[in-house]
Amino acid sequence: MGILARQVLLGGIEIDGKLIPSGTQVGTSSYAIHHNEEYFPNAFTYSPECWIVDPETGVSEEDVEQAHSAFCAFSLGSKGCIGKGLAYAELTVTLARVLFLFYLREAEGELIGGGKPELGFGRKRKNEYQIQDRFVGARDGPIIEFKARVVFAYWTVLFNKNPFMTVLNRTAIR
Ligand code: HEM
Repeated sequence: MGILARQVLLGGIEIDGKLIPSGTQVGTSSYAIHHNEEYFPNAFTYSPECWIVDPETGVSEEDVEQAHSAFCAFSLGSKGCIGKGLAYAELTVTLARVLFLFYLREAEGELIGGGKPELGFGRKRKNEYQIQDRFVGARDGPIIEFKARVVFAYWTVLFNKNPFMTVLNRTAIR
């Protein structure tokens, strides 16, 4: 699983008792951190209650604090995600709207995306959606052309509302 790499600066750095020379790329995958049993004892089990203090489920304040201290989906420190607050707002509103408007259930039939024995080491858990490392994608295109719809073009010519569209229409007349 990929890492958010950082380059060691001049003078090197000591990590976990080992001296790492300058220029080395270092990092830890967030998948590994989020599956470290010291912080997340049941990392492979879907248990949202582990984030909520509740004597009935046995989740203590210390458990929740420990989990929060290692949670790094948005990275941490000075290079952490600047859009975190906006992302939470968008996710919360979207989720609330979806739950308000729809009933949800797991689709019937064969599960897709889960682990299987034939997928090899670390990919055998049936109930874990398999993650592919695609943090950043690069590609050429798409190249898109825009043309005003007929009704809209008439509207812009008649009322001269949109300068951009007016330029387009003048060009077409020439
Ligand atoms: C669920 C949604 C999101 C996740 C999981 C996420 C995750 C991350 C992570 C892990 C980093 C650190 C990258 C690194 O250290 O190399 C990052 C950086 C960044 N994110 Fe997000 N992000 C999310 C949404 C957003 C949104 C909505 C915005 C903007 C509106 C945004 C803008 C940025 C920017 C500008 C950086 C670079 C910050 C810097 O280098 O100083 N992100 N994000």
